[in-house]
Formats: sequence, structure tokens, C-alpha cells
Amino acid sequence: MSETFTINIDGKEVEATPEQTILEAARGQGIYIPTLCHYKGTTNVGACRVCSVEVENARSLVAACTMPVNPGMVVKTNTERVLDARRLIVELIWASGDHNCLTCEQNGSCELQDLVYRMGIEKPRFEIDSPGYPQEISNTMIARDLNKCILCGRCVRICNEVQVHEVLDFSMRGSKSKVGPAFDSDYIDSNCVFCGACVDACPVGAITFKQARFQGRPWEISKVRTTCAYCGVGCQMDLNIYDGKIVKVTSDPEVGLPNHGSLCVKGRFGMDFVHHPDRLKTPLIRKKGKLEEATWDEAFDYISDKLASIKEEHGPDSIAGLSSARVTNEENYLFQKFMRAVIGTNNVDHCARL
Ligand code: FES
Repeated sequence: MSETFTINIDGKEVEATPEQTILEAARGQGIYIPTLCHYKGTTNVGACRVCSVEVENARSLVAACTMPVNPGMVVKTNTERVLDARRLIVELIWASGDHNCLTCEQNGSCELQDLVYRMGIEKPRFEIDSPGYPQEISNTMIARDLNKCILCGRCVRICNEVQVHEVLDFSMRGSKSKVGPAFDSDYIDSNCVFCGACVDACPVGAITFKQARFQGRPWEISKVRTTCAYCGVGCQMDLNIYDGKIVKVTSDPEVGLPNHGSLCVKGRFGMDFVHHPDRLKTPLIRKKGKLEEATWDEAFDYISDKLASIKEEHGPDSIAGLSSARVTNEENYLFQKFMRAVIGTNNVDHCARL
């Protein structure tokens, strides 16, 4: 166990360890420090400075998310100087983009909006200077509006450090800085695999799920936690439901194993089959050359009768079984057991080998 020592935050003695930042030590005690660029599971970069705090004997305000604690450190999180600085930073961020909450998909779930509200800022004191970038809506899954981007870099870090796809980075310099794939291309023309992690990481409305646009406000959406059925990993996901329909899929990193909030393109965007009119909802049995709807009991009886008669007529090795990557290890185990012990053949394989 690492050594612990005491620091003072807002007059309160707080236990801390050397590997902690001021932000971690404060949050461990329920002390509020706002953040924007900080994102759990990724490197702290100190990009937004919204977490500025005063540290005794420091020359200037410091970013709580990057500053490690030291024994005897004295920190103040809510002096006038700190609150003024944070307010100025939030106003500058607001003024440097087109944060139009009326039509923004993130309205009600936007970290910048929350900060503006919490600080009681009715209007930034600076002229709003939207960069005027065209929106990227060229693919069916992710929409990007860089006019809302606050350059926090959360999407860049989740893409590079957690998903390890290394698609996103910063380009250009100064006020022209922007985030995106190489050569400023659209997602669809890049190496993006559409895992959607950048959408989850975005604290504002710069990167959103395109299919979910205008399909329900965050407060109208209910979440149903489920296990992805696309493969046997068992990723935990939240189906976001509006008006009885899945409008998007998210995943909570706090749930932990097995996916820690990550999803693949299928789990993230492959849910439109659920409401598709062509979706099979009952088994079908071909009768006189025509597929007809049947009950599950009828279907199972039909299958077992056919398997028994084929086995009797042609022997067990005339039957082969192909299992699926969409079921669990346990179900695959049971399937091979069924083929070997019940049918009596070793003709068993798995679609993942094809
Ligand atoms: Fe600390 Fe952005 S949250 S600098």
C-alpha cells in the first residue's frame, strides 16, 4: 500500500496518496471541482483549465486534474479568484463555438451547458465567433459538427488510448485547431471502425449518433441494460429507448467487465434489425414448397423428427452441426455435446472458423 499523507482542501484535512491529483483527492471527499477535458480512463492533459484551483505558494492557478498532490499542500477550490477564472474560461469556450442548444442533440446532457447554467452565465461577454465549419453527415452512423467542438481532446484520447484505433488527432494551429481523422477527411474516408467511443466521450454536441438525431431528448429516453447478442463476449450495453423504439446504444464504463464501456460497430449501430419489418418473429416451416409460420413447439417437433429419421436412414455421420459465435461458450459446449452424445457424430464446427 502506498504511503498516505494529509493535504488541506478548503480548510478540510484530506487523506491523499502520492499518485493522486488534486482533483482525485478532492472528489474522493465529495468536494466539487468542475471539469471538461478530464475523462476517466484517459490521460489528464489539462486542456480546458475549467478545473483551476488555487494552491498556496503557487505562482498561478493550477489545473486540479493534472497537478499531483504533495504532503502539506493547501488548496482552495472556491475563492473569488478561482470562480472568476473558471467563469472567464467557460465564457471563452462558449463564445468560440456555435452552441445552439435549441436544436442541439446534447441539450440536457451537455457538460458545457451544465457549467454555464451552474455558473449563472446568461450570455458570454465576448462576441460569439463560430468557425463556420460544414457539418459532417456523410455516413449513416456518426454526425460531426466541429462548430460545437471545445477542443477538449476527449475523443482523441479515447480513440488512441482506449480503443487504440488512432484515427483522431488535432490538426492546424491556434484558433484554427480542429479534431478529426488524417488529412481532415470525413470519418467514412478514414480508418475509423465506427466503434462510437468518440461519441460517448464528447462532452458537448460536436459528435453525436446520427441515427438518434431528432429521435427524442435525453430526458425523454429510458435506458434498458442488456447483453449484446452479436457474439459470445457478452458486452454490456444500454438500449436507449424512445417511444418504444431503440434510438441508440450506449455503454456505461462503470459497469466494468467485460467491455468497460467499449462496443464494436455491430453492438453500437447494428440494432435496426430489432424493428425491421422483415424480421422473423416466429419459426417458419416449409409446407408444399411454401414457408409458413409455426409455433416453437411445432418447430422443435419437426426438427427432432427429421433428425431422428435421417439418422435412422443414413446413419449419424450424415448429419453435421454448425454452431454460432452469437452464443455463449456454455451454449457452444452444450451444442457439441448434443451432436456427439445425442446424434452420435463428430461432425461439429463453428462459424467463427469459416
Ligand atoms: Fe482539468 Fe480540463 S478538466 S484542465
